Amino acid sequence: MTALTLSTAGAATLRADALVVGVAKSGKGLVVAPGAEAVDKAFDGKLAAVLETLGAAGAEGEATKLPSPAGLKTPVVLAVGLGSVPEDGESYRAETLRRAAGTAARTLHGAKKAAFALPVASTEDAEAVAEGALLGAYAYTAYQESKDAKKPLAEIALLGGKPRDKAFKAAAERAQALSEEINRARDLINMPPNDLYPETFAAIVTAAGKEHGLKVQVLDEKALDKGGYGGILGVGKGAARGPRLVRVAYTHPKAEKTLALVGKGITYDSGGISLKPAGHNETMKCDMSGAAAVFAAVVAAARIGLAVNVTGWLALAENMPSGNATRPGDVLRMYSGKTVEVLNTDAEGRLVLADALTRASEENPDAIVDVATLTGAMVLALGNRTFGIMANDDEYRTAIHETAEEVGEASWPMPLPADLRKGMDSPTADIANMGERMGGGLVAGLFLQEFVGEGITWAHLDIAGPAFHEGAPYGYTPKGGTGSSVRTLVKLAEKTADGEL
Ligand code: BES
Ligand code: MN
Ligand code: ZN
Repeated sequence: MTALTLSTAGAATLRADALVVGVAKSGKGLVVAPGAEAVDKAFDGKLAAVLETLGAAGAEGEATKLPSPAGLKTPVVLAVGLGSVPEDGESYRAETLRRAAGTAARTLHGAKKAAFALPVASTEDAEAVAEGALLGAYAYTAYQESKDAKKPLAEIALLGGKPRDKAFKAAAERAQALSEEINRARDLINMPPNDLYPETFAAIVTAAGKEHGLKVQVLDEKALDKGGYGGILGVGKGAARGPRLVRVAYTHPKAEKTLALVGKGITYDSGGISLKPAGHNETMKCDMSGAAAVFAAVVAAARIGLAVNVTGWLALAENMPSGNATRPGDVLRMYSGKTVEVLNTDAEGRLVLADALTRASEENPDAIVDVATLTGAMVLALGNRTFGIMANDDEYRTAIHETAEEVGEASWPMPLPADLRKGMDSPTADIANMGERMGGGLVAGLFLQEFVGEGITWAHLDIAGPAFHEGAPYGYTPKGGTGSSVRTLVKLAEKTADGEL
């Protein structure tokens, strides 16, 4: 785990392997961003000119390494691009800083310690830099035995803040708790499905619960059977390893509200009897990203000490074909009592979520937010970096969209058109688990809505696009599990605690 230290040392006096500075585009060419004045001085005021000669333009995502001149205590200076210099009087966007810090930390994999002298004009900026650096320093190395595998940066020293300032210290601590939990979600998503299955996932939650004072309850197959959880059981039936429903609860003595979070936790989605073709299952260990995000958000809320109750529900199952698997044509009796005709066993996420949503509703929370890698249709609609938001309350949907924007997560509000419901009419059961192909992401949302308790505010985040990143790493986003939606969920919990929601 990467350590975060706050330092009062000047950029020219701190000992580290590398010193990170920001550079930006201005009308007059490349400029060194505030925070790195002492570094520029060590270059005789020519740092920008040297970098321009090396080809730097200050574009976002750009990283240029150069050896330090005498006068600096770090052998290497790493200049990261911040895009255009902000308008007069404005500071850099938090997400710009987060990404630049992430690019820097990622570029420094294998180094021990780096000092960050990026432009921080507020505690919010410092928090963004700390978050970006800690998220960018992530690498999944658990299964790499080779000695050459590069380890992430071991220590990040944050310059430019006031370590004795309470708000600044709190911001750094919040960034650390949040980033570590996002990295925990990434670890779970990246963990191979032969080792992460419902039982082991539940055991990991139980252990974390002990560490952070959370109440954890696990329903195993027997308990699910006794309780009538036909959706979760129906999806898990084909696998050698049985399903689980995990409840992980954080409570605060002064909490006035309770937020319920429900996560899709398909530890592997083969499609079941409606088997996915080759090319569509290689990354399906990521199908528990919603559960990982919910788990991470609950632990982060606890570590930050938010004055709100947050209850996480993880619907865990492995979707496999076998002689015992649910068939297309089977009818499941759900926890709510509704019957569902399974027309496609690959539409399994909505089945496990339905039971968890009904169960979560029984506790009458102030709101329920579910998170799921639910549909390929949402990826077609919004691409690989944006999650879709659906809700039974327009204001709540807007609030989540704005919250996501504030924490630097891309999202977009999507409708739940009532006319799509009839496509799920079943001649045999109350509803089918599939409807029209067009608008498939919205059809899935409409299905989920039927399992939410009367009068409960509910939103659904379809993170199928951004949950797992297959392209080249960028900013603080690595290859593989991203931890998408955790920042949004934690901010949502914070706003709920503050009475803003
Ligand atoms: N887990 C998939 C959705 C998915 C697709 C996640 C791509 C991440 C990346 C989900 O269980 C699924 O298979 N959905 C089907 C539903 C269809 C059969 C109605 C889909 O989207 O094709
Ligand atoms: Mn599926
Ligand atoms: Zn799935």
